[in-house]
Order: sequence, then structure tokens, then C-alpha cells
Amino acid sequence: MKILKIGGSFITNKSGYKSPNSENIESFANAVSLIWHQGVHDFILVHGAGSFGHPLVIKYKINDGVKSPEQKLGFADTHASCTELSSMLVAALVRKDVPAISISPNSIIEQKNKRISKFNKKLVLDYLKKGFLPILYGDAVPDTVLEGSVCSGDQIIAHLAKDAEFAVLATNVDGVLDREGKVIEKITKKNFNEIKKHLLKTENDVTGGMEGKLRELLALKTPSYIVNAANGERVIALMMGKKAICTEVRKE
Ligand SMILES: Nc1ncnc2c1ncn2[C@@H]1O[C@H](COP(=O)(O)OP(=O)(O)O)[C@@H](O)[C@H]1O
Ligand SMILES: [Mg+2]
Repeated sequence: MKILKIGGSFITNKSGYKSPNSENIESFANAVSLIWHQGVHDFILVHGAGSFGHPLVIKYKINDGVKSPEQKLGFADTHASCTELSSMLVAALVRKDVPAISISPNSIIEQKNKRISKFNKKLVLDYLKKGFLPILYGDAVPDTVLEGSVCSGDQIIAHLAKDAEFAVLATNVDGVLDREGKVIEKITKKNFNEIKKHLLKTENDVTGGMEGKLRELLALKTPSYIVNAANGERVIALMMGKKAICTEVRKE
């Protein structure tokens, strides 16, 4: 099994508010459809929330607990908004003959202090076995300490990747870039401290942007690849087990 993630920075206009990038949703759906129709069916798709998640979490102040009635309303709105984005991606995939099923992380994941503590993967794996393309996404989920919290697509990847051959994370940059804009080919725990100086803070991101992504990936035994979704052929190549311009992340 393989994992494919598409970043919210690609399928939405990240600086907007609930602003889909329809052209990019379409082009990514095309790449997925090509992968699917070449016979690769053993993968799970995860997408980020982008402007359907982060700005709502900031607006409703729900990143450190969901206690007041206003926060509960905000939590409900944020979850609905993430689900709305997921429906757009599903619609684009179904139009291209991919049997995509969006499964709400809110219904199968529980967190403890913003980290996944329970994950009922059975529904996801059952759909996969039946020949569907299961889709999960960054979402607002129940939390045993905070009542509710945000679960990033990257954290979902980290959990699913434990059982995967590799994970491909498609985003809006060619990979992790150094200050000259050159792609860093490989990141491991050994060179991470050295590479940290190249990481810029991402605005409108409540789940840590590129640094948050790398921290999730470096903890895994499974290799992962950060690749530009704007170059669909790179995403397709990596999913087929071939090489492409990207940043490879491995534990060592
Ligand atoms: N050194 C770096 N190399 C590449 N991207 C970086 C770097 N530092 C910060 N970033 C930012 O990280 C963003 C990707 O992270 P993020 O927005 O969380 O993507 P995603 O939507 O895929 O989760 C890029 O758009 C870029 O603005
Ligand atoms: Mg992100």
C-alpha cells in the first residue's frame, strides 16, 4: 500500500478564506486518474485543508481547546468546511472515473492534546480492499483533553505510513528548498538540524507548515517524497516507483 497526499496549499488559495483553487483541483484529479487507470489502486489519498481549515481555526480561536459555545460552533463550522473541500475533490475524481470515497477523520480519529490517540483504520482499509480510493483529510476532530482539536493531513499521513511502502506528499514547491531555491535532495535525522535554517515560517498555518511536515516524516521508518503537484508527471512517476525531482525524507 502507498500513500499520496495533496497539500492544501495546492488545491486551495491558501491566503484566502474558503477559496478553492479549482484549476489545481482539476489538474491534480487528472494526475490521480492517470495513476488509477494505469492500474495502481493500492493507495490512500489524503488532502490538506488549506484555506478551508487554517483561517477558520484562527478566526474561531479553536487551536487550544473547544470549550465555549462560540468555539463549539466554530469547531462545527471548521469540520463542515474541511468536508466541503473534500467533496470538491471527490466530485473531480468521480468525473474522471475514479471511485473515490471521502471518509471523515472526525468520525474515526480521536486525539489527546492535538495528537492522534485512536485511529479506526478498518473502514479505510475495507474500502481499499473493495477497490475504492479512500480519501482522508485534515480535519477538526474530537480531543479527550481539549474537547476538539485540529488533525493535520500530515499527521494522518504519519499514522497511515506505518503500514505503507512509501508516502508521496505533493505540495506547491519542488521540494524542500535551500536559501538559493535549490531542491534539497535528501533529509534525514542527521542533516535536519543543518537544514532547519532554510525553513521559513508559513503564515496562515496552524499545523506547522513545512517544518511540521518534516517533523512528522522524520519520525517514520517509511520513506517519503515531497514533490511539486504543479508537475503532475513527477507525482505520477513517484507513485509508479520511479524517480523524479523531489526531496526524499528518511529516518537515516
Ligand atoms: N525551505 C523551504 N522549502 C520549501 N518550502 C518552504 C520552505 N520553508 C517554508 N516553506 C513553505 O512551506 C510551504 C509548504 O508547506 P504547507 O503550506 O504546509 O504545504 P501543504 O499545503 O502541502 O501542507 C511552501 O509553500 C513554502 O511557502
Ligand atoms: Mg501544511
